[in-house]
Amino acid sequence: MPEMETAAFETDLSLFKYDNLEQLPSEYRTLEETERTDRIEAALDELGDDVVILGHNYQRREIVEHADFVGDSYQLSKQAANADAKYVIFGGVTFMAESADIITSEAQTVILPSMEASCPMAGMAEALQVDAAWAEITAATNEEIIPITYMNSYADLKAFCAEQGGLVCTSSNAHKAFEYAFQKGDKVLFLPDKHLGENTAHRLGMEDEIVEWDPWDPESKDARKAVENDIILWEGYCQVHERFRTDHIEKIRDQHPDANVVVHPECRREVVEAADVVGSTATITQTIEEADPGETWAIGTEIHLTNHLDRWHPEVEVLPLCGEACMDCNAMRQIDPNYLVWVLEELTEGRERNVIEVDPETKDLAQVGLDRMLEI
Ligand code: 13P
Ligand code: SF4
Repeated sequence: MPEMETAAFETDLSLFKYDNLEQLPSEYRTLEETERTDRIEAALDELGDDVVILGHNYQRREIVEHADFVGDSYQLSKQAANADAKYVIFGGVTFMAESADIITSEAQTVILPSMEASCPMAGMAEALQVDAAWAEITAATNEEIIPITYMNSYADLKAFCAEQGGLVCTSSNAHKAFEYAFQKGDKVLFLPDKHLGENTAHRLGMEDEIVEWDPWDPESKDARKAVENDIILWEGYCQVHERFRTDHIEKIRDQHPDANVVVHPECRREVVEAADVVGSTATITQTIEEADPGETWAIGTEIHLTNHLDRWHPEVEVLPLCGEACMDCNAMRQIDPNYLVWVLEELTEGRERNVIEVDPETKDLAQVGLDRMLEI
């Protein structure tokens, strides 16, 4: 498969969570790959066990190649927790680095090479905005509502959910989080990804119990109507995954009759229904790892992971589900490898750049939400 180029992606939804953006010094902007690799290796030699680099599956090749661990957001949080390095350099987006900061010890520092790596979907459910919706929705019913937030959300929303008796979930355990919530209460408010919420409701046979809550549309914000349903889905979504459509699957199967299709659960309901396998980026990776030589797999997720899997598994025919229209993630792309050189070289000089630090109160509460998730 030829390396896919990035599809044009313009959005005004990429809300930056942190306003202490440190720009890359100009001398780092034009490094060639060979020089960059040499400098990264030299800095890592000097820093030794003080540094661990984590790389999400959607990171560029040049980041993933330097990572000590590559994985999905949940696996990386666990790696962060187990790491005893003083510095955790997170190749991912802000909500992931925040989770790492929550989980790691006080003595560890989490660094996000570029502060501009903010997931637009996490930005679609600001804690303040959710707080206002929560007041409206809970006032409309005497039944108990349990809020669940997907890992792809900011620490203050994780803290809010925990404070209201709810929890955090990942794309792999969302169904268990729903089951926990229905044992504890009567209704669920799920944030911020409506597609993961809808796919989970289907998995539990509760597809008739869904209503959407769109904080930007006054028409859809009818709290009395919302609480007639058991599952209230926040109107958030990922642009990268919303792009996949069933006609892409049909086209792939027309052109490659033996093709299997694996997609991420952030895809639309009808796409998930038409796919052969659905799962987190770890599940997608494992599916290709376990494929027999000669099998064909079309992948419905962010294009960097598809490119990595194609490179790592030449024995499998790996195809991007929507061809050249497949996108990279604008937020993940912000982790330019030149930033990695910069933050590492700054550490060798004793300077910490782009540190992600969740305030202690939010941290403690968000930890409760994550602990509840680990117990289910
Ligand atoms: P995973 O948790 O499956 O790695 O997904 C993270 C993500 O951002 C998907 O868009
Ligand atoms: Fe956020 Fe989508 Fe990017 Fe994942 S792929 S980090 S959900 S924008």
